[in-house]
Amino acid sequence: MKERLHEILSPYEGKRDQLIPILQKVQGELGYLPDDAMLEIARTTGLSESRVYAVASFYAQFRFTPRGKHSFLVCRGTACHVRGAEKILEEAERSLGIVEGETTKDLQYTLETVACIGCCALAPCVMIDEEVEAKLTPKMVAEIIDGRKTE
Ligand code: FES
Repeated sequence: MKERLHEILSPYEGKRDQLIPILQKVQGELGYLPDDAMLEIARTTGLSESRVYAVASFYAQFRFTPRGKHSFLVCRGTACHVRGAEKILEEAERSLGIVEGETTKDLQYTLETVACIGCCALAPCVMIDEEVEAKLTPKMVAEIIDGRKTE
């Protein structure tokens, strides 16, 4: 990690005015902004750690935790809500062992909610990566997750 960071950051030595492009570059390369990277960015630019954290925290585009290999999106739009999206989310949380916004320890899944997947007639829905699973029940969610774990 240290060597990789050095490689990414070496063109930015002392470039305080490049903080946002640096944060974007590091996140683009590593997928998120780990603590080690934040400290190294502060050292490279000469900015304080608190300044680097303050700027990165201000922008929603920056993440401080890694994302899973797969995205698991539970729709909470109106159509899905009235057809039981809460129960779908509860089951996804139970089966994955995480809560909304978290990533599984094995870095396989990040569980998030979304306003509408665009398949309202087939509610309730989830989207796993690019694939929509529709007309779900909590039992089906458990089966889908179990099935993927054994793949
Ligand atoms: S509200 Fe869920 S797909 Fe539109």
